[in-house]
Amino acid sequence: MRKNCQFAFVILMFLGLLASCSQQATKYRIGVSQCSDDIWRDKQNSELKIGAYFHDNVELRFAAAYDSDKRQIQQIDSLVATGIDLLIVAPNQVSTISSAIDRAYDKGIPVIVFERKTSSKKYTAYMGADNYEMGHLMGEYVASRLNGRGRIIEVMGLKGSSPAIERHKGFREAISGHPNIQVVATLQGDWTEPTAYKTVKRWLDKNHDNGIDLVFGMNDRTAMGARKAFTEAGARLPLFCGIDGLPGENGGITLVRDSLLDASYIYPTHGDKLIQLAVDILEGRPYEKETKLMSALVTRDNAHVLLMGSEEVMNQSHYIEKLHQTASGYMKQLANQRTLTILALAIIALLLLLLLGIYMYYLQKARIQDERTQMEREQLDFYTQVSHELRTPLTLIEGPLAQLAETPDIMNASTATSDLLAIVRRNTHQLTQLINKMLDAQVGAPKSDMTSEEIDAITTRQEPGIQAHDIVPDEEAPTVLIVDDNADIRTYLRTILQGRFRLLEAKDGKHGLEVAREQVPDLIVSDVMMPVMNGLEFCQQVKSDVISSHIPVILLTARALSQHQIEGYQSGADAYITKPFSQELLLVRIDNLLRSRHQLRDLWSSRPDRTGNKPEEAAPAISEDQIENAFIGKFKKAVEEHIGDSNISVEDLAAQMGLSRVQLYRKVKALTGHTPVDLLRKARLTRAKELLTGTELTVSEIAYQVGFASPSYFTKCYKDEYGVVPGEARK
Ligand code: FRU
Repeated sequence: MRKNCQFAFVILMFLGLLASCSQQATKYRIGVSQCSDDIWRDKQNSELKIGAYFHDNVELRFAAAYDSDKRQIQQIDSLVATGIDLLIVAPNQVSTISSAIDRAYDKGIPVIVFERKTSSKKYTAYMGADNYEMGHLMGEYVASRLNGRGRIIEVMGLKGSSPAIERHKGFREAISGHPNIQVVATLQGDWTEPTAYKTVKRWLDKNHDNGIDLVFGMNDRTAMGARKAFTEAGARLPLFCGIDGLPGENGGITLVRDSLLDASYIYPTHGDKLIQLAVDILEGRPYEKETKLMSALVTRDNAHVLLMGSEEVMNQSHYIEKLHQTASGYMKQLANQRTLTILALAIIALLLLLLLGIYMYYLQKARIQDERTQMEREQLDFYTQVSHELRTPLTLIEGPLAQLAETPDIMNASTATSDLLAIVRRNTHQLTQLINKMLDAQVGAPKSDMTSEEIDAITTRQEPGIQAHDIVPDEEAPTVLIVDDNADIRTYLRTILQGRFRLLEAKDGKHGLEVAREQVPDLIVSDVMMPVMNGLEFCQQVKSDVISSHIPVILLTARALSQHQIEGYQSGADAYITKPFSQELLLVRIDNLLRSRHQLRDLWSSRPDRTGNKPEEAAPAISEDQIENAFIGKFKKAVEEHIGDSNISVEDLAAQMGLSRVQLYRKVKALTGHTPVDLLRKARLTRAKELLTGTELTVSEIAYQVGFASPSYFTKCYKDEYGVVPGEARK
């Protein structure tokens, strides 16, 4: 299980690693805050993007303020809030958005100011062209173009933006060196064409015959706005000069080539350089704090060539862009494939885990099976060994026994001795067969048990037949009934008891009950586990029948648990002896029980409680005493009724009580130790004694009255009983 977990952990780590490889985290987020949105900014933004392609993990976030200070401030703040790593900013005006730049810088974000300047000192680096120089060079060009003489209009860029300030300064300084060049008007623009158009139009409206030779717009769009106003006014068109010098449609170079502008000045965008500077700063490489971008004048002479070059550059840019798009497509595909690969690997890993689990399960199962087989084998070995061990002593018993049976001593010995030997031999043989069978079963099929029929076949004893026993010791010896389904046990008991007792036998409880009722034995020894009727029920029935209730019952059984003994005593048993039992114990118990029954009772006084050796804890369910008191009462009544009848016989008394002569005889004898005849005589003599002392009747009259046929026999019996003749008793 632990190995399984380790394996799963390794797989998960591996998958995690793959997943992390599949998506490289963006390292640098660069915010670009443009002050406006136009073709110059577009060019620069696309250069920035292309520049970023060459740097792994650079993400650009663009914002354009559309010439609004307020908007630019907001945009810078929100760029900072998104968690940029560096800010590139072209401030709309010099001082208006310094606060936002300061906030970014104070948060530890490096700031690159480019192209337009800021009054804030809180920036990391500056990159841009020299606008003063640009204005100055343009002034020189204009002067030279006009051959040092002419009237010009200057249309400014956005008020407060650094290029407008610096270009104006440079331009005017250059112009001031040419006294015949007159700046007729300086009009305020804002870098856009519509504003320039409106401003110039307004001026033209006021100054119809103006004789303007040249208009300097601070960028190409401004110059073109002025041109539009002049064209619309229908006035003679002066020369128009601008700045920016962009290639492409509406770009300054194209306009110069097409003679719409006289000249322009390339205002460098260089997004590539800007990105390089940003990455250098972010990656901690040395960088220039101030980078001046170089530039060049565009005139009709070089416009064509410049355009060709620029177009080439633009084509290259497009090509790179396309390449990038294709590459990103591939990258996406690759990422998808990687995801699929990871998924496949995950599924394979799970399958492997599953297989491993199944494998471990079967391994475990096999191990348990092996252990079980091993245990069974050991058990089998043990039984086999024990069986073999048993066979050896059994062989040593069986053999000598066979030899013993052949010896003359045994051959001539008593029936009891040969009976005993036969029991031992028969049972030894059965045991040997049983063990042989067990061995066969184990060797052949370890798990197949013998069927109950087989066991029965082996253990079924030969039934020697029930017999009232042949050795009868003497007529007066007590009778013992042996009840047991095992013939050998019966034979064995017989060998123990014969000679002392007259014996009766029965093979189960039902049979035993029949014998007990008929013969009324003096004592019963019974097994418990028997077919047809078990010993407990048998005992209960014996104790609840008036004929047999007085008979002591000894239960002889292998059921040794105290619960079994309690059950035995509850059924009314007088003693409970467990097998194997001692011969002496059995005999002593029988003697004790019989002795206690022989205690003479004075039938004609109130009967004392009988004493026996029954333990107190297990009183029988049926009160034997009640039955017997009732019996004695009934007997006394019968005797007293017939006390005067000299012809009454024991049969008559028995019949009156619903018993046979034998039953009455044995019952009365067992309870009192006297025969019914004795008791009848005793009753007559007791009555006679009463009559002698209590009446005036003669001895002869009394003799007849108490059922004596002759007075002389009465006198004899009276003397035998009381030691005096009736005549003396009267005195
Ligand atoms: C672009 C632009 C250019 C001009 C520059 C001045 O937004 O207006 O045309 O040269 O900005 O900053």
